[in-house]
Amino acid sequence: MMSSGSAALLTEKRTESMKQTAKVNEQLFKVVSPLLQWYDSHARILPWRENPEPYAVWISEIMLQQTRVEAVKPYFDRWMKAYPDLSSLAGADEEEVLKLWEGLGYYSRVRNIHKAARLVMKNHGGSLPPSFSGLLRLPGIGEYTAGAIGSIAFRLPVPCVDGNVLRVVARLTAEKADVSTAAAKKQFTEWVAAIIPTERPGDFNQAMMELGATVCLPNGFPKCELCPVSFLCEARLQNCVTEFPVKSARPARKVEKRTVLVLLDETGSVLKTALRRRPDRGLLAGLWEFPNVEGELSAEEVSQILHSAGLTSPALVKLKKAKHIFTHIQWEMTGYLAVVDHAASLPGASEKADSDLHWVGIDQLETKLALPAAFKPYYQNIKCFINKELRYESN
Ligand code: ADE
Repeated sequence: MMSSGSAALLTEKRTESMKQTAKVNEQLFKVVSPLLQWYDSHARILPWRENPEPYAVWISEIMLQQTRVEAVKPYFDRWMKAYPDLSSLAGADEEEVLKLWEGLGYYSRVRNIHKAARLVMKNHGGSLPPSFSGLLRLPGIGEYTAGAIGSIAFRLPVPCVDGNVLRVVARLTAEKADVSTAAAKKQFTEWVAAIIPTERPGDFNQAMMELGATVCLPNGFPKCELCPVSFLCEARLQNCVTEFPVKSARPARKVEKRTVLVLLDETGSVLKTALRRRPDRGLLAGLWEFPNVEGELSAEEVSQILHSAGLTSPALVKLKKAKHIFTHIQWEMTGYLAVVDHAASLPGASEKADSDLHWVGIDQLETKLALPAAFKPYYQNIKCFINKELRYESN
């Protein structure tokens, strides 16, 4: 049982926290009106804002989770042309959907969109469910996306708190909690939820994000002189805007060296290259890749690998090094290009040694198969090979 001293302390803490919440709510509440006024005259004209129906809002919000607005625009336009509604998306082939997403990264997101579209066709008559909890039950839709679709498309008074909003709230309140913690996110979300204007929830949420994206910028470059609510900003009043948000440093990315093999077969009527499917789980799950192995291999080691896979190659071209940064890992890649005749097996090579390789025409790679951005430099090398521009690299 709790001692009376501990109970008193707990009550005191709770009272303190309630007082703080009330103070913050009162302060944040003052932001609503000037922010909406600012949004009315400063909102960017964006394709998904023209007709904010649930499907368009959903697609745009998932795209925006990983990419800047300007970069998303052409992807969004292409997507809407290819799949103007949920039923056309549900009927599409996964490979084709992945290809359209190529370059946006985070391919599990587009797989979830596709899965969710099929579920919505099956269980919801083809329309996204118009409730926060219904949206949350769909694959790939978390609190942020449910909040965005709910507030923008269905006018529900639900919060939608992304990194931009966390920064804006941290500065407005000069709150020192670490925004990378779940506790701070929960607290900030509750503060935002308490002030959402029921008549314009979508505009309010978008205004908060817009302010973060265009004015209340990160990394020491806030444009406070353009901010419609700077007079209410606690961090600004204390002259310490750049100290917010408080965020713990991410652990350093693991660096992994890999050797990528660009194998070309010129024996048929079309130039073919070897691709492989990545495993179903983990990084770039289930996507196509050029065969690659861990480590920085020498030309001799690569020749041996080719030999044991039953592939002969008269010469290897060492390709320029390339780097790709993922969220938690960084690949530093060495590459080799080899022209091989995959049909002619070497005596003694295991029959199945190259059986996980798929030999595909280069046109397939251009138009049908999604190749993750990490491998794009190697695709570029194939183009150079075709144009006879490939340079032999000495290191
Ligand atoms: N960032 C992500 N979604 C946004 C939206 N709807 N408005 C402004 N910025 C955003």
